[in-house]
Amino acid sequence: MYDMVHRMGKAELAALIARNQNAPDPALLREAALFRDRHYGRRVILRGLVEFSSHCRMDCYYCGLRKSNRRIRRYRLDADQILNCVRDGYRRGLRSFVLQGGEDAYYQGERMVLLVARIKGEMPDAAITLSLGELPADLFRALKEAGADRYLLRHETADDAHFARLHPPGQTLSSRKRCLYRLRELGYQVGAGFMVGSPGQTHEILAEDLLFLRELQPHMVGIGPFLPQSQTPFARETPGSLSLTLTMLALTRVLLPSVLLPATTALGTLAQDGRGLGLAAGANVLMPNLTPIGQRGGYLLYDGKIGIDDGTEEGLQQMLQSIRAAGYEPDLSRGDHQDFRQETTPYYL
Ligand code: 5AD
Repeated sequence: MYDMVHRMGKAELAALIARNQNAPDPALLREAALFRDRHYGRRVILRGLVEFSSHCRMDCYYCGLRKSNRRIRRYRLDADQILNCVRDGYRRGLRSFVLQGGEDAYYQGERMVLLVARIKGEMPDAAITLSLGELPADLFRALKEAGADRYLLRHETADDAHFARLHPPGQTLSSRKRCLYRLRELGYQVGAGFMVGSPGQTHEILAEDLLFLRELQPHMVGIGPFLPQSQTPFARETPGSLSLTLTMLALTRVLLPSVLLPATTALGTLAQDGRGLGLAAGANVLMPNLTPIGQRGGYLLYDGKIGIDDGTEEGLQQMLQSIRAAGYEPDLSRGDHQDFRQETTPYYL
């Protein structure tokens, strides 16, 4: 029934989003979960997250890591520390890892290429997703050649004027989009995405986000609520709504049935069992945090972030348990998109 989203224009999509803003239609949620089940079964893919640096040369108005924030504790893991986080996850059975950081020049170059090659040399059956911002095409290529499998680069909003409301003048939506298309061409599994409820966002803009996803056809989409961070210009803004975030997750699943769709930490921060609700709305990925516990407090994109005090083992066990309690099965494999699936036996715990 909701497959009409494939043909809808902007006004129709905006009206559909508006109708579901306060409570997603149960039929929409059912359809989203059905599509997820059809492509992935009841499996929830786990990706170990390593937040390798909180240094950032960008100044996004919403983000706690923005360079103008002088009050955050900055840290940078060295290559051995990052490798050890990945090894730790690997020993626990994980085969999919996300290296995410601020736009830290220290790692936006040859160092990251070497690190990716080292990880792949030691753990060739693990998949690596990178998330380190906009980079020159040559570097995207070198990272791919070193063995990176995927790249996450949220577009944040698909409306130019709204992008300008969220970012300082040097940053543009067109440059962001160029990077995403380039990553696709280079053979990455590509992730786009956006925040729900960021200041100035309208239903029309969210409709524009869906149209952009329909055009780009990304393999992964990261969607979470905007949450204010007290040391940013958006400190006093209202957080995004749970129901609208769930609606956008479900619409994204219906629009891109085989997409890899995480139930994000921001969603888990916004509401008790937010990530469980995300799975019910069609999400199929969770990202347990492998960042060393002493550093986690330095990676505060927004206030109230969950999981800061849990050890890696604790966090992972809790996650496995809540996945099973909700009637799903943890999947610790590489977690490729179906267009990229490799001939390896999936690894289940
Ligand atoms: N609230 C919610 N999400 C945020 N991000 C950054 N700051 C915030 C915030 N205040 C998201 C952005 C970015 C990702 C790493 O985290 O979408 O792409």
